[in-house]
Amino acid sequence: MLELKDIKVKINETNIIKGVNLNVKQGELHALIGPNGSGKSSLANAIVGREQYETTGSVKLNDLELLELDVTERAKEGVFMSFQSPPSIPGITNYKLLSQFSKQYEKYLEDIERLKLQSGWAQRDFNDGASGGEKKKNEILQLLHINPKLVILDELDTGLDVDALKIVKELINEHKNKFGWIVISHNSSVLRSLNPTHVHILKDGKITNTGSVELLNNIDEQGFSDVGK
Ligand SMILES: Nc1ncnc2c1ncn2[C@@H]1O[C@H](COP(=O)(O)OP(=O)(O)OP(=O)(O)O)[C@@H](O)[C@H]1O
Ligand SMILES: [Mg+2]
Repeated sequence: MLELKDIKVKINETNIIKGVNLNVKQGELHALIGPNGSGKSSLANAIVGREQYETTGSVKLNDLELLELDVTERAKEGVFMSFQSPPSIPGITNYKLLSQFSKQYEKYLEDIERLKLQSGWAQRDFNDGASGGEKKKNEILQLLHINPKLVILDELDTGLDVDALKIVKELINEHKNKFGWIVISHNSSVLRSLNPTHVHILKDGKITNTGSVELLNNIDEQGFSDVGK
């Protein structure tokens, strides 16, 4: 479904991603882990098409070349990303924004309750004044209603308390087969609990190791610098 070929990303003349190949099929969950600053968020941003990321190579979603499309067009084709630091948009409510994609208001209210967000959440301005954890829950809430093809979660677990994390993990597992997933996290136990089909280590802009969930155990024991040596 998603096919990355020799992706290179430059930001302000600096090479950040230095040749990444990756294939993600529907129902697969690819865990992406690696040291701070190794390029995980940059790779995700390049796939969704954020402007300042100068990207070469090929990013195909069901044979459609995404690099020729802008960020909005890619989203319309079914690329969804939850941000490491989600933005706020004062002046537009959570539901107003979501209703551009989905009119299932009753289901929206149910999901708000399931995620234990406040009852007035739908009518609050988008992420305005929201806590870090509430913003992360809002990302999942959108995901449940947008129905994309490819889901990229960048550090979704950061800022979520244990109860929230449990609900989010359940929701991801329930919807796992519907989408293709790239999940970025520093927390190997969170990644393990999502039963990833593939695990990749990104170091200095390159995927240095690909394996099964076993690879996460090796990282826990040896750290990033020794894995794969
Ligand atoms: N817009 C930008 N301008 C300048 N440098 C950038 C920009 N975006 C990313 N970088 C640099 O690219 C490198 C990779 O950053 P990136 O955010 O992709 O890392 P990461 O693997 O997601 O790290 P973390 O685990 O801390 O989230 C860093 O050195 C960062 O400073
Ligand atoms: Mg990051």
